[in-house]
Amino acid sequence: MASFFRRTISSQLVRICGGSEEVFIPLLSAVPVSKRQSTPEFRLAVSALVQNGFLSPEEDLLDQTERLARQLKVNSVIEEVTTGRGVINFRVNKLLLAQKVLSELREDPQTFGLKSEILRTLPRGRTLVEYSSPNIAKKFHAGHLRSTIIGHFIANLKQALGNDVIRVNYLGDWGMQFGLLGVGFQRLGSTEKLKENALQHLFEVYVQVNREAEHDESVRSDAADFYRRLEQHDEQALLLWKQFREITVQEYKRIYQRLGVHFDHYSGESFHQSKTQEVLNDLRKLGLLKTTEKGTGVVDLSEQGDMSSYSTVMRSDGTSLYITRDVAAALDRKQIFGFDEMIYVTDKSQSVHFQQLFQILRVMGHHWAHRCVHVPFGLVKGMSTRRGDVVFLEDVIDEAQNRMMHNMNQSKTSKAVSDPEQTADQIGISALIIQDFKGPLMADYVFDWERVLQAQGDTGVFLQYTHARLCSLLRTHGDETLTHLDASHLQDQRSVSVLQHLLRYDEVLLQSALELQPRYLVSYLLMLCHLVSSAHRHLPVKGSATDVAQARLRLFSGTCSVLASGMKILGVCPVEKM
Ligand code: ARG
Repeated sequence: MASFFRRTISSQLVRICGGSEEVFIPLLSAVPVSKRQSTPEFRLAVSALVQNGFLSPEEDLLDQTERLARQLKVNSVIEEVTTGRGVINFRVNKLLLAQKVLSELREDPQTFGLKSEILRTLPRGRTLVEYSSPNIAKKFHAGHLRSTIIGHFIANLKQALGNDVIRVNYLGDWGMQFGLLGVGFQRLGSTEKLKENALQHLFEVYVQVNREAEHDESVRSDAADFYRRLEQHDEQALLLWKQFREITVQEYKRIYQRLGVHFDHYSGESFHQSKTQEVLNDLRKLGLLKTTEKGTGVVDLSEQGDMSSYSTVMRSDGTSLYITRDVAAALDRKQIFGFDEMIYVTDKSQSVHFQQLFQILRVMGHHWAHRCVHVPFGLVKGMSTRRGDVVFLEDVIDEAQNRMMHNMNQSKTSKAVSDPEQTADQIGISALIIQDFKGPLMADYVFDWERVLQAQGDTGVFLQYTHARLCSLLRTHGDETLTHLDASHLQDQRSVSVLQHLLRYDEVLLQSALELQPRYLVSYLLMLCHLVSSAHRHLPVKGSATDVAQARLRLFSGTCSVLASGMKILGVCPVEKM
């Protein structure tokens, strides 16, 4: 589809400018559809030809643009060539547009757009994505929810683009807090309650023991003692810790399943504990570990070697820190998984931490640290539920589900859904995800349930609603394979707009992958929904002549599958009825 048109235009450019089609193909961008006027399908920025040495930087750009445009010929594929300021616009034959787009969609709706030539410029390989990474016994805050859904999206996207993806959850399962938790559980814990609601119980114990530790010195020293025993692998201490960890992981797995999220590996800070001493030894051997007056171990990260920037990797008692464990974890992962790139997803407060981590790896001589990336995101304010401030992930999902159930009960169409609770769950989650993905990830935003769950406007509910409507249309009218498509029935402005928009899917995926930002895909899908809803309202299937009806059904079914595959990449499970 898009490749076919890009290639045809490129072959003309080769004829005039020389070079090869491969050079021109990525320079041709599909023009977004505008609601107000019809736009050309493809655009070439002439400055790119100057940059690539095909045009002269000396001569006036507008003159060169005009001359090049005159040399380009219209033919059976390219219908019109026009110029704008420094750009050349191409309009393609609309019959071909419909035929190419819809036949590719018919051949393999799942991979539509994903095999496009412009995506071949992306590096492929093994990608490790680390996301979610909550801390045992602590609050699962909105930041963890964001990390979970953003990381899931990045992993899905990388996978869809042909990478071998490894999904890792790096739990906060080690550190002084386990000394407190251990002591707290011995004093206040109940195995019964642990079985009933592990996350809640561990959290309560942790909060309570922290309170006691504030004014009771003996609690503090018991906790320090417990943690020491843990570090020395005391069997009993470890046994209790293991129980906390296992039960927590089990609970999380269940909740992640509701979100449609999964991991290949549950790792955590504890896993790399033993390796941290090796890391410190390596740093020492390389002459990178400096001891300060206070006895702590630091790595100088400044360019001038004047300690204007440094990272502390060892406490004065010789124990490791968060960053030391991260260095050990990165080295372990490289060894075990042999990844080509590694992506960490956390809120932006950890940006400095990750920049330091990558820098330490680089000064240690690990050149692959250049392919480690931190994807930071902003804060969410005001995420609360009827129970109050959000403490547990499940509370947010439950709240979304309940509110969605309530909305569905008030609408007439939803009565027919066979499993309303599950549907409400999925739509509620979609709404959370889309709301979160609409803006740049770095931006902070204020959470608002009313806005999140609106059925109209740019929400996850609207995406789901449009998808369900299309599914219902296809159910009613059948979606049998057509060998013949009469594209002349898809020449009205509404059909053409949908088709033209479909032409841009590969470019949107490319941009999403280059920037690791979901917002391009989100606005693309929302626009697709607006365009197809308008087409659906004005282009009836029922009551139309058979070949007209069939052509329209092809358009709707193709759109429906692109919508579904885009939603799945975002981590949104498309519902067929609502
Ligand atoms: N558990 C950490 C937190 O809740 C996030 C872990 C991020 N990943 C890492 N490799 N440090 O803040």
